[in-house]
Amino acid sequence: MEVKIRPCTSNDMKHILSIESESFAEGERYSRSIFLYYIMFKKAILLVASIDNNIVGYSLGYMEDEEVGHIVSIAVKKAYRNNGIGTKLMESIENELKSRGAKLIKLEVSVDNNARKLYEKLGYKMIKLLPMYYGNRDGILMIKEFT
Ligand SMILES: CC(C)(COP(=O)(O)OP(=O)(O)OC[C@H]1O[C@@H](n2cnc3c(N)ncnc32)[C@H](O)[C@@H]1OP(=O)(O)O)[C@@H](O)C(=O)NCCC(=O)NCCS
Repeated sequence: MEVKIRPCTSNDMKHILSIESESFAEGERYSRSIFLYYIMFKKAILLVASIDNNIVGYSLGYMEDEEVGHIVSIAVKKAYRNNGIGTKLMESIENELKSRGAKLIKLEVSVDNNARKLYEKLGYKMIKLLPMYYGNRDGILMIKEFT
């Protein structure tokens, strides 16, 4: 199973939205207009993972300022999880942000989300609790610094 990571094209958006809908609860999903907002106004990087031309995951990030990258979201199609695709998407978006000058990358995650394990494995450290960040659930701010 060869996983390719590449920048998203306009044809990918419907697949990304379908992954979004099976990955996040209603009210926590990004709409097409939010993805487009990040791409247009934040000059975000939207990467997709594909297997045999099927989109199985995405990651979204942007440069918050000259040296700070921000990973906004990542999701992998349920049937393809725990195969290393999330790790690849994270590493690829980190590399893109680093190539744009990131010396530090931040992200937010819900306290009860298992994605924390993935981030910890990749070297992210919790630095702050974000009370009620997700409406009725706390979030945490995690960062990873590059030397
Ligand atoms: C988080 C997510 C993108 C991970 O994708 P993935 O392709 O399964 O990730 P990988 O296979 O590369 O890595 C899985 C690693 O993360 C951890 N992990 C990720 N999801 C996990 C889960 N549901 N349960 C337990 N551990 C999990 C494991 O420690 C695993 O590490 P290991 O391979 O050393 O055991 C995927 O679970 C997902 O789409 N979740 C729903 C959307 C979401 O919550 N996104 C994060 C928003 S902040």
